[in-house]
Amino acid sequence: MCGIVGYIGTQAATDILISGLERLEYRGYDSAGVATVEEGQVNCVKAKGKLLKLREKLEHVVSKAQIGIGHTRWATHGKPEEHNAHPHLNSARTLAVVQNGIIENYLELKEELISNGVEFISETDTEVIPHLISQFLANSTSLLEAVQQTIAKLEGAFAIAVVSADHPYELIVARQQAPLVLGFGQGEFFCASDMTAILPHTRTILTLDNEEIAKLTPLGVEIYNFAGDRVSRFPRTLDWNPVQVEKQGFRHYMLKEIYEQPAVVRICLDNYLNPNWHADEDPDYSPINLGLSPNLTDNLEHIQILACGTSWHAALVGKYLLEQVADIPTTVDYASEFRYSPKPIIANTLTVGVTQSGETADTIAALESERARRANLEPKRQAKLIGITNRPESTIAQIVDRVIDTHAGIEIGVAATKTFIAQVMGFYFLALDLAYRRKTISNSKIGEIIAGLRHIPSQIETILDTQADAIEELAHDFTTETEDFIFIGRGINFPIALEGALKLKEISYIHAEAYPAGEMKHGPIALLDNKVPVVAVAMPGSVYEKVISNAQEAKARDARLIGVTTAMNATEAAHTFDDVLTVPEVDELISPVLAVIPLQMLSYHIAAIKGLDVDQPRNLAKSVTVE
Ligand code: AGP
Repeated sequence: MCGIVGYIGTQAATDILISGLERLEYRGYDSAGVATVEEGQVNCVKAKGKLLKLREKLEHVVSKAQIGIGHTRWATHGKPEEHNAHPHLNSARTLAVVQNGIIENYLELKEELISNGVEFISETDTEVIPHLISQFLANSTSLLEAVQQTIAKLEGAFAIAVVSADHPYELIVARQQAPLVLGFGQGEFFCASDMTAILPHTRTILTLDNEEIAKLTPLGVEIYNFAGDRVSRFPRTLDWNPVQVEKQGFRHYMLKEIYEQPAVVRICLDNYLNPNWHADEDPDYSPINLGLSPNLTDNLEHIQILACGTSWHAALVGKYLLEQVADIPTTVDYASEFRYSPKPIIANTLTVGVTQSGETADTIAALESERARRANLEPKRQAKLIGITNRPESTIAQIVDRVIDTHAGIEIGVAATKTFIAQVMGFYFLALDLAYRRKTISNSKIGEIIAGLRHIPSQIETILDTQADAIEELAHDFTTETEDFIFIGRGINFPIALEGALKLKEISYIHAEAYPAGEMKHGPIALLDNKVPVVAVAMPGSVYEKVISNAQEAKARDARLIGVTTAMNATEAAHTFDDVLTVPEVDELISPVLAVIPLQMLSYHIAAIKGLDVDQPRNLAKSVTVE
């Protein structure tokens, strides 16, 4: 996490850095800072808290500097205090460094530096970097060389940007496992943790590879690998529209992103459904266009999915689909667990990494280790990797054999909404593609499921149009005294209960747990009384009656019961539930994408009414790029 940004060119650097940091604030927001170089001096301004605080401090600072670096922090080493905020400087205050990542051997390096007489100001791991560069510069006139020598001593995953008063026309950046992109303008160059920071200035982008270091000057960019060899790389031009990252009149990004979901599903359908496919025609003409080559899909005996957080919930829906529709045994693991306790190797396994950002450190590491441990095995045990991601230009794309782009557009709210729906859509397509290739269900059944998928956008619109006011009103009941929530669901909708609970926790700070409804009586039911509302995801289908019975058991313990069910069931459900959130009639297999919408909205309204920072909840960051 943390966001870094850098600029060198002809414009006032501070404004560009601050506007870049605004776009990176989702990566961390406990403190921020900028350092610029002007008239032979490094000027550094930092502030604890949100970027607004830094802005206020900079209001009266007049700077014409045309080079600088900026940082927005998510604390790892050292509390969120001003002295721990980046940039960090060397003792002579002649050079400044920002870092995203973790320097794992910083204690050892710090002790060494202290024994050489260096005084530290912060508790961060990063501060060793400017001091090391400074030491190397004592014997070198090249900033690039001093940074290279410093990097050789660093262990961990990091991206850094460095400016120096003694080298006022150079911005040095480097990447080791943490993301960093370069932007190319007319006589000006940018760097950032995420291209969204750069997009207002240029769409000509180059993603730095691992173990690359670059020197940006007003005249151009030179890239080297860590071994010191010059690397020849070409930037590419993006077709992203910066307007996608504006709030467009919505009070919060999260609300805007909830309302974008019908459009996102439409884009996914347009991209991955073959419009000319008919159930009774050419058997070799696939209904799905994922572009997966036969060597990834033939003879599969097992699928293993690796993900974190909301992406893990999407993976659980995926598991249900891959097993029930494509008939392939599927496991889902937290990437953070899998990387340290990988499962025994099964032949003919397809590994699917799910990550909206494409940068989650644990997911990336788990996929990399999976590829490495299978590398020298017989062909059928070797890794076949695909990624489901919203950022096809991100790190995951460099690891997997094929990316399924979820096409959700940039998501700014820390709480994932539209990217979750898009990931689940990715799993529908994957399951249908495999089911078609393996003939596990009939073409007419595939046709029925596709027809159901095509209805999703208008059905989500119906929920948004008809339920928004009622959900907002209901939300008022939980904004003052409610401290705990329980969510229950079964089968394909158990992951929706998990996702509903996660959304509520992360933005409203209300404790919420989700259980498979049938598990309540094995322990968690002891938690229930009239102070703990229970949300039951009760979508008609194979387990509907079971969920209703489990909900009744909760009601018998005085819990206030909120049901998510279909409109046709609403009258019957009114006998069970105290409050009913209705969604349109839908087949059970498609129901998760509708059931999750009222839960997203309920969480959103509870948090918004409580006056909380919906888009940037405390302690969180959008992209978890540290372990
Ligand atoms: C979702 O609301 C969360 N903010 C979080 O759980 C997120 O899904 C998780 O960090 C994984 O992120 P990724 O999809 O970018 O890998």
